[in-house]
Amino acid sequence: MKFSQIILVTGGAGFIGNHVVRELVNKYPHYKVLNFDALTYAGNLRNLLDLNENENYQFIKGDICDASLLKDIFDQYQVNKVLHLAAESHVDRSITDPLSFVYTNVMGTVNLLNAAKESWYGNYEDKLFYHISTDEVFGSLGEEGFFTEQTSYDPRSPYSASKASSDHFVRAYGNTYGLPFVISNCSNNYGPYQFPEKLIPLVIHNIRMGKPIPVYGKGDNVRDWLYVVDHARAIDTVLHKGKVGETYSIGGHNEKTNLDVIHTLCDKLDEKLGRAQGESRKLITFVKDRAGHDKRYAIDASKIGSELNWEPSLQFEEGISKTIDWYLDNAGWLESVTSGEYLNYYKKQYQY
Ligand code: NAD
Ligand code: DAU
Repeated sequence: MKFSQIILVTGGAGFIGNHVVRELVNKYPHYKVLNFDALTYAGNLRNLLDLNENENYQFIKGDICDASLLKDIFDQYQVNKVLHLAAESHVDRSITDPLSFVYTNVMGTVNLLNAAKESWYGNYEDKLFYHISTDEVFGSLGEEGFFTEQTSYDPRSPYSASKASSDHFVRAYGNTYGLPFVISNCSNNYGPYQFPEKLIPLVIHNIRMGKPIPVYGKGDNVRDWLYVVDHARAIDTVLHKGKVGETYSIGGHNEKTNLDVIHTLCDKLDEKLGRAQGESRKLITFVKDRAGHDKRYAIDASKIGSELNWEPSLQFEEGISKTIDWYLDNAGWLESVTSGEYLNYYKKQYQY
């Protein structure tokens, strides 16, 4: 079959990546979707089992820092679109091991930019380098205000500094070499297949197991939560309708303190697991705050709403209920990713 687009998705075996791959493979049978992933601790082919039989889907194991492999892939498949999601993505890990974030998020992105530039040079027609980034590059908000496409960069963790650097490199390749690019900066995602180092799946897992729920500081930091499938829909929208050289902010209009999120999870899980109301809240344990902990993130997503006609399809109450149901129905997935190396990580991070 001749495909009309050859799309290289990096990090497609990760949390957001698998939803993006699924959205594209199912919606566009005439596109070939290449999932390029190194399968680090965060990448898992179990996230994509439902797509194995699809003719327009192919997995390629590889590291975005491997320049010669990337060159071969661009040559062999005639890739014309890149959706770049591969990254080290967890802030706490960036605090203990910043260099691995520089390696993947900065050097890996530049390697990928080079591969695209060299393969496409002289013919940028129908080509696009789409870089998926985070709202954390804008730093931390006080009580008021929102991040927009005009907000100045002010990254405050090794993770956000590495993502900010990668954003700058993408824009620099656009300016210097004319590489057609688009960038989106999204707020916190939640939903199925998220690795349980991140707040929501970690809390669900601990409640199931009757383990302490670690709350950093006072639990009053605020995040703006977006259901992951809505982020995948937004990425599809930007891929098809976004203007080259532009940036889009994506968010859920669902600001919550961490303690609000945790209380919701405790109460809903008590109900769903048939436990007495208030039982899970007893697991809440206040622990040492994250170093340099950003206070509040919130996105003004009006540009993607008004220009590209995207908006979230569901709000937090509905999304969190679906999310909890998914983790309860897929306890095997959760158990498989929380054995082995996870236990070492957990002990080092939380000391219990
Ligand atoms: P994740 O950690 O769940 O997945 C990352 C994926 O990248 C994994 O499959 C991993 O194997 C792969 N990967 C890591 N290093 C690689 C390398 N060197 N070469 C090839 N593949 C490699 O991350 P996520 O939460 O799905 O985030 C995906 C992207 O979206 C990241 O760029 C992140 O910065 C961005 N983002 C995430 C969120 C969020 O809330 N999770 C919000 C906004 C933006
Ligand atoms: O804003 C987008 C970003 O959201 C993405 O770019 C990152 O990849 C993603 O990891 C996420 O970053 P956060 O640091 O906001 O997410 P995390 O789930 O790690 O933490 C959410 C909040 O919960 C944060 O304020 C820290 C707090 N927290 C987290 C953990 C893991 C706790 O209180 N206890 C915990 O054990």
